[in-house]
Order: sequence, then structure tokens, then C-alpha cells
Amino acid sequence: MRATLWLVCLCTARVWCQSTSSPAITPTSAPTINPTTITTAAPTTTPRPPPPDVTEVIVKTRNETHIELEWTKVNNINTYILKPSGGTETPITGSDGNTVTHTVSSLSAGTKYLFTLFTVFEGVKSTGFEFSAVTAPRAVTKMIVKDRSETHIELEWTKVNNINTYILKPSGGTETDITGSDGNIVTHRVSSLTAGTKYSFTLFTVFEGVKSAGYEFSAVTVPSDVDDVTDKESFETHLVLQWTNVNNDTSYNYTLRDSDGNNTFIPGSNGGNTVTHTVPSLSPGTKYTFTLFTVFEGVQSKGFHFSEATVPSAAEVKVTNRAETELTLQWSTVNSTDYILLDSSGENISFSGPLERTMTQTVSSLSPGTEYSFTLRTIFETKTNEYNFSSVTTIDCAASKWTITNFTIKAEVVGLFSTAAATNGTDVTGTVGENKVSFTDLYPGATYNVSLYYQLNQQDLLQCSHSLTLIPAVVTSLHCERGDYSVRLKWEKPFGVWTEVEVNVSGRGSESVSGTELIVSGLQPAQTYSINVASLSGAMRSSPEGISCHTHSTVIWLPVLLIILMGLLTALGVFMLRRKPELLSKVHMPMSKRPTEMQSSQGKFEAIPVKTFSEHFHHMTRDENRELTAEYMGFNTAGADQTQREATLSENMSKNRFTDILPYDSSRVRLNTRGHDSDYINANYIPGYGRKNKEYIATQGPLPSTVSDFWRMIWEQKSGQIVMVTNCIENGKTKCEKYWPQDHTPCRYDDLLITMKSEHKETYWTTREFIVKNEASSEERVIKQFHFTAWPDHGVPYGTETLIQFRGLIRHHIDNSQNPGPTVTHCSAGVGRTGTLIALDVLLQQLEREKAVDIAGFVHSMRCRRPRMVQTESQYLFLHQCIKDHLTEKPVEPLYANAVIYENEEALKQYRSDQIAGR
Ligand SMILES: *[C@@H]1O[C@H](CO)[C@@H](O)[C@H](O)[C@H]1NC(C)=O
Ligand SMILES: *[C@@H]1O[C@H](CO)[C@@H](O)[C@H](O)[C@H]1NC(C)=O
Ligand SMILES: *[C@@H]1O[C@H](CO)[C@@H](O)[C@H](O)[C@H]1NC(C)=O
Ligand SMILES: *[C@@H]1O[C@H](CO)[C@@H](O)[C@H](O)[C@H]1NC(C)=O
Ligand SMILES: *[C@@H]1O[C@H](CO)[C@@H](O)[C@H](O)[C@H]1NC(C)=O
Ligand SMILES: *[C@@H]1O[C@H](CO)[C@@H](O)[C@H](O)[C@H]1NC(C)=O
Ligand SMILES: *[C@@H]1O[C@H](CO)[C@@H](O)[C@H](O)[C@H]1NC(C)=O
Repeated sequence: MRATLWLVCLCTARVWCQSTSSPAITPTSAPTINPTTITTAAPTTTPRPPPPDVTEVIVKTRNETHIELEWTKVNNINTYILKPSGGTETPITGSDGNTVTHTVSSLSAGTKYLFTLFTVFEGVKSTGFEFSAVTAPRAVTKMIVKDRSETHIELEWTKVNNINTYILKPSGGTETDITGSDGNIVTHRVSSLTAGTKYSFTLFTVFEGVKSAGYEFSAVTVPSDVDDVTDKESFETHLVLQWTNVNNDTSYNYTLRDSDGNNTFIPGSNGGNTVTHTVPSLSPGTKYTFTLFTVFEGVQSKGFHFSEATVPSAAEVKVTNRAETELTLQWSTVNSTDYILLDSSGENISFSGPLERTMTQTVSSLSPGTEYSFTLRTIFETKTNEYNFSSVTTIDCAASKWTITNFTIKAEVVGLFSTAAATNGTDVTGTVGENKVSFTDLYPGATYNVSLYYQLNQQDLLQCSHSLTLIPAVVTSLHCERGDYSVRLKWEKPFGVWTEVEVNVSGRGSESVSGTELIVSGLQPAQTYSINVASLSGAMRSSPEGISCHTHSTVIWLPVLLIILMGLLTALGVFMLRRKPELLSKVHMPMSKRPTEMQSSQGKFEAIPVKTFSEHFHHMTRDENRELTAEYMGFNTAGADQTQREATLSENMSKNRFTDILPYDSSRVRLNTRGHDSDYINANYIPGYGRKNKEYIATQGPLPSTVSDFWRMIWEQKSGQIVMVTNCIENGKTKCEKYWPQDHTPCRYDDLLITMKSEHKETYWTTREFIVKNEASSEERVIKQFHFTAWPDHGVPYGTETLIQFRGLIRHHIDNSQNPGPTVTHCSAGVGRTGTLIALDVLLQQLEREKAVDIAGFVHSMRCRRPRMVQTESQYLFLHQCIKDHLTEKPVEPLYANAVIYENEEALKQYRSDQIAGR
């Protein structure tokens, strides 16, 4: 194929050379030849002159492959030959009209072609008109946005056929000429644009001044960020975010990115000018950070950073304690940096303290029986939450005025309550109205526990409880059967609860009985006695029922004689006692065989016989205890002349709980010095009843540093029991180191391993059993501790009965103990309560054996062993009261069916019956 073309070319070249041998004609200077002359010359053999060339060829249209040429006919000649440079001639025949058009096809884009156009007339070619024409270059086919911002776009494309010139025309804008530089790539930056806008462009390739077909494309600028994001509403678990559409244009979309990089697409057209978006599933009281991107045609803005916090949880408040003037509030902390408690008037109730897991706050200075509303505000960042609640303070029921009859209870109570209930085992509902409460149809003499409630938020809150005993019913059918010197009084059991019936015979005092009859004897014949009978229930007494009873009229001289005789006998008795009082004391005072130092004070103290004790007590306590005070003051000097050398040695001072309670050298307990440097402990031997010189050890409550010494003493002295008459902590002050194990985990003090075997807690005391093991010898002993928990320091217990019972328990144990050693007794200082308890034990023994007590004598003897024994006058008076109450004591009823208490009751009963049997 190629070879053939080549041949054709050679051929034409030869033809071209032949024709150029004729005079050269340039298109512009070609002479106009008259066709007629050509025609005339034709018959001759002389060559015809060539026809003139066309003077101008214009490119009418062109594209990448075609060029459409047009020229004006020369001399109306219709035939032409177009020869592309190096190509084959193409004959062209014009059609009607003055112009000829010819399309050259199958060309290459962006190429410059050389042509020669010959005018042919009658077979003769003109010299040829040479011209050139270019095809349109190809358009760019691909555009890359290399970079963009809010105001510019950088475009990049590959050069077409290495062409360097281009024209960029923005839609509706003016064209820009672009000249590429070296390399194959053209870059162009379009600036001064508007953010978030789509621009359309047409790019032309320009070759030899000819533009290609336009390449149309569009590109967008980076959209602007939103101005601000606000939280429209705050919630604990979600955020409602809101912003104004960028450029007020709802076609923008948005992407919200959280701190984990999660993206959420948000269309911009969901709410008019503003966009609202809810972020769900969040935690309360937490700060979240976000980036919000504006998205325009897939292009993201730089991003707007912001953070927003969720509302903290409300802290739910529990009222853990209600009192008359205080409410204790408690709540668990939430994610809140601060808590503000407001009362109903919005007053800030300040409180302090660190933020702990559980917060407790006591609101005080409140009025009793009043409802209070509060708000607890939690704060996180700028968000707050509130918890509203209310509660009511309690009432002091006992302070109200209670009116009690034999079947009703009424009261006027200040403070809020809405319902009332009373129970004696059977429940009764009270009537409530205007601060008044009343119960009717109650059971006479019964003890009712009355409770007032206030209903708040569907809850019945107990405002107070109060125990009241009704007046018992009066006895009925009261009558008397007369005798000579007596009357038999009979009645029927009163209705309801009653404990005793009190019979009061005019001029003879009263007597209490628990049955339904009483023989009143020792009356005079032929007399009328007015008798009143009232029933009792505890401290309550019914109104008396009166009756007049008559005795039989008999001879009256016999009683008169008897009275005279009795008078004489009494006078004789009194005379004898006045003269020789030792008669009586001798009989009742084996206590005179007391320790030596008591000898000196013999004669000064006397045992008081049981029979006259009541009188003695009265004597001692009248005129505001004048005698008792004087006697007690007399002990001040007792024993005080003794030395306390060991106790005051500098190495021992730290072993004393108090600097002024120091043991006398003569009677102090000495510790074994084997393996130890000191024999000192703040303890003294105290005598017991009879000849027992070391029945007790009175000692101070151990200090942290003397606990080991304390146990060492117990071990060495072979003590079987410890009596503790203090609490470890009283009124916030440490009175005694807790020297025994907390639980069943043993504690070791030097060689001694102390294990708690048992612990029984009761209302007024606790008993414990310890196993004490000497690890050196492997010997084990059981030691019992009696811990009285209801005795205030420097004071006296409430009532004598519990302490007498407690002492009975100890005495029973001592009498049956295997360990021969002294009973170790301590309180805090080891003198006041300790002295009182030891004295009580000794004196009650004396009372049982001798039917007489020498309180002063024994206290004096204790003072000679250890200073300040029975430390206060009130304790001394209490000792007297114990003796007095013991003498009038009634049999103890078991208080509870509780097994442990029952055990103690049994022990007490056993102890009593032992004593009665004289053991
Ligand atoms: C160029 O124009 C001719 C007619 O003049 C046409 O037939 C041809 O298709 C065109 N080519 C292109 C690429 O436009
Ligand atoms: C958006 O629209 C509001 C009213 O619809 C107008 O006040 C505000 O100026 C507009 N903002 C812009 C950027 O066009
Ligand atoms: C992001 O998505 C993951 C998976 O869905 C989720 O576990 C995580 O909590 C998300 N992060 C935030 C901040 O919501
Ligand atoms: C408290 O905040 C922390 C982060 O500040 C968060 O992880 C936690 O979940 C939040 N706790 C609650 C109970 O909302
Ligand atoms: C916004 O998103 C929608 C689809 O959710 C899309 O049709 C629209 O073109 C987007 N608008 C812009 C400006 O990108
Ligand atoms: C309580 O009172 C009721 C009568 O209201 C009476 O029947 C009952 O025996 C009483 N109970 C006691 C324990 O007193
Ligand atoms: C209750 O007391 C009233 C007056 O005090 C008396 O009249 C009445 O008989 C008493 N009732 C009983 C059952 O005792």
C-alpha cells in the first residue's frame, strides 16, 4: 500500500517539476488570461496559457477531521484540482453559484496542512494557488481539581498534543487565555470565588488561533462553616443541637463527627432556615465534643468544633433520719460538680464536706412537727437538674398534754400528724382533728403504746410514740365481814388490767394486796372504820371506793392491858440498848475481824442492823443528806498518809491513766518481773467480806500501753473473772482501751493469746468468755468478763435494781469459780464505780450473813488500800439506796422469755435460793 503511494508521489512530483518549468506565477501576481485568447490559441499547436489561479481560499468550517474550504470561482471556471502537500490531487467540480466549497476529510486534529489549488480550464491547469489550513485541535478530555478553598479552585489537565495555549471561559464570564509551561501538565488557579458555590467552565484548546470544541466542566468551592451551634434543649441522655443553615441555603448538607470519629449525615433541608439535630444515647452529666462539617456537592468545610454537656442526673434524696429539729438527708453522688440544697423559699442551705460516694447532710434548727420542702440542685458545666422532695420533723409526744381516764386517752399535740393508733396488743384507731387526738373504749388499766403518724406522699411517717397506762377500773362489790378485832374486806376483781389493790384504813395507813380480799386485823371492837379501796395499775390509781366497816363490840379492857404491857416491854428494851449498844453490834459485827488498818477506826464505824436501816437511812438523808455528807467528807484523809513511790517513778508515770489516781505502795499489785523490766501496774488489792484480804483487785481501765500488763496481772494472779463497770468510750472520750478481741480472731499480748469464746449482749450488761492461753506453758484458762454498760462516769445507774442483779450474777460466778485469784474490777480510773461495785458486793454479803451492814466502815477500809474508792458522794448515797432497796426487794420476775436472759435469771434465782439455804 505504502509502496504504491510512494510511486504516485514520485509521479506527481515529476509532473509538478514539468509545470514549474513554466514562468512562476504567484497567487497574487497571476495574470488574468482572457479565455478567448486561450480558445483562439487552441487550434494552433502553441500551448494554451494556463488559467488564472484563485486568489483566495477561506476555511468555511472545520473540525478535528474535516476542513471545509470555499473560494470564489475564477472566470466562472467550474473545475479545480486540490493537491495537499505530499498528497494526491483531487479534482473538484463546482456547482451552481459563484463559489465552490470543498471538504477535505480524514485529517488529523490540530494539524497544519499545505494545499495547492489549481484552476483547470480545458485541461490546462493554472500555476496553482498555495495555501495552508489547520484542523481544530482536540479538546481536553479530563479535568482535575487539584486544590480548592472557599475562594479558589486550582485546575489541572494534561496538554493536548503538547499544545500550550488554552482558553478558559467561566459560564457567563469572560475568557481567560492560559499558556502552559514546560512539561505535559497545565495548572490554572481560579480565584476570587464565593464559598460553597458550583462554577461551570468551558475549556478550549487553541491551535494556530483555532479553538477546539469546548470541554465543559464544573467545580465547587469549599463551603463555609456554620457560625455557631447551640443546644436548643438539654436532656440527661440526649442533646438537641441547632444551627442556622450556611448562607441560608437549605441545599447544604452537614456531617456531625463525634470524638470517636463517628460521622452522622444530616440533610440541611429538614427545618427551614435552621437545622435541628438530636444526638441520642448519651450519659448524663458528661461533656461531649463534636466537629460539624458543612457538605456541599461532596466537599466538606474545614469543620466547626464545639462541645456540649448533657444535663446531670437528679440526685435522689432519701431522708434517713427525722428528728424534732433535724432532718438527715442522704444521696448518692451523680456526675455533678456541686450540690445546692434549697429550702422551699429558695434559700440556699449551705453545707460543706468533700464529695463522697454517698453524701449526708443534716438540716438543723427546724421546728418540730413541721413539713419542709427542699430542692437539691445538681450542676454540671452550665447544666442543672433538680430533685424536689419534702419531709416532716417529728414531735415530742411526751411534751404534749395527755389526759387519761379509765377508758380514754386524749391529747393536744402541737405539730403535724394525720392518723393515730394505740395498741395494747389489740390495735385501736384514734380520732384526729385540729391538733387533737383521742382514743375511746380502751381497756382500763392497760398500757397502750400510742403512735401518731403523718401521711406524706402516700407514706405514713411516724411522728412520735408514747407509752401510757390507763387508770384501772374501780373494784366492785366491795363489802366487809366483821370480826372482833378485825374485818374481812372482800371485793370483785376490777375489770381490765390491774396489778394490786390498795386498801387504806382510816388512821392506819395503807396496804397493797393482789387478791380479792384482805383481813384487816389489830382493830378495836365496836368501832367503825372508814376504808378506801383503790385499784392500781403500775403508777396509775383508780378513784377510791369507800366503805365503812364495823367491828364486833367486845370487852375493851383486854387490849388496854395488852397495850400497857407492850409499852413496858418496849421501854425496857430501849433502856438496855442505850446503856450497852455493843450488845447489838457484837451480835451483828463479825466484820470487826477486818484488816489491820481498820482496827484504828474501830468504834468509829458501826454496823447498822437491818431492822433499823430504814431509820438510819432517813437519819443520814434528811436535811439534804447532812449526815451522809459529813460522814463522806470524813473519808478524805483515810489512807492518805501512805506512800505512792512506785507509781510516781518517771518510768511508770506513763502507765497511769490519771496523774492523781495512784496506787499506794503497801497494797499495790506487783507483776512478776521474770522476763520483764517492771513490776508496776496501777492496781491495788481490796479486801472482801470476812477474812479475805485479796478478794478483789481494783485497777484502772487499761491504756493502750498497759493492755499486756493487764492480762499479765490476770494470768499471774489467777483471776477467774473481770468486772468492767465502764464503756470503752463515753461522751466521745476514751475511758478504757478495748483490751479484748473484736471478734473470734484471737489477739496476742506477749505470751498470752486471748480468744473470745462467747459474747452475750443484754440491755444493761454484756458477758463475755475469753480463753486465755499462755503460749509459753500451753496452759489455758477460761476467764469471764462481766461488763456493765449502763453506768455513767462519776454518776450512778438509774435505779438500784439492775446493779443489784448484775452483782448477783458476779457473786454467783465467783462462788462457783475454778480460779482462786482475785476478781479484777475496773472502770476508767478504777476508784469510783469500781469502789461502789466492790462495796455493794461485800455489803450485801454482810447483810445476808449478819443482818447488818457497815457501809462507812467498808468504804473507809477500801480508802486505806486505794485512794478515792467510791469517788463521789452520790455514789456513796447510791450504796445506801441499794441496801435500802435490797431490804424491801420483791422477788424478781423474769423480764423476757429471751433464752440468754433466762439463763441469767436462773443464775440469779439459784443464787438467791443458795443464800436462803444459808450456803
Ligand atoms: C466534521 O464535519 C463533517 C462535515 O463537515 C462531519 O461529517 C464530521 O462528522 C465532523 N466530525 C466531528 C468529529 O465533528
Ligand atoms: C438569612 O436569613 C435571615 C432571615 O431569613 C436574614 O436575617 C439573614 O441576614 C440571612 N443571612 C444570610 C447570610 O443571608
Ligand atoms: C461511635 O460508634 C461506635 C460503634 O457504633 C460506638 O460504640 C461508640 O460509642 C460511638 N461513639 C460515640 C462517641 O458515640
Ligand atoms: C460521668 O462522667 C463520665 C465522664 O465525664 C462518664 O464516663 C460517665 O459515664 C458519667 N457517669 C454517669 C453516671 O453518667
Ligand atoms: C444533600 O443531600 C441530598 C441527599 O440526601 C442530595 O440529594 C443533595 O444533592 C445534597 N446537597 C448538596 C448541596 O450536596
Ligand atoms: C387489750 O384490750 C382489749 C380490749 O380492748 C382486751 O380484750 C385485751 O385483753 C387487752 N390486751 C392486753 C394485753 O391487755
Ligand atoms: C371510770 O371513771 C369514772 C369517773 O372517774 C367512774 O365514774 C367510772 O365508774 C369508771 N369506770 C370504771 C369501769 O371503772
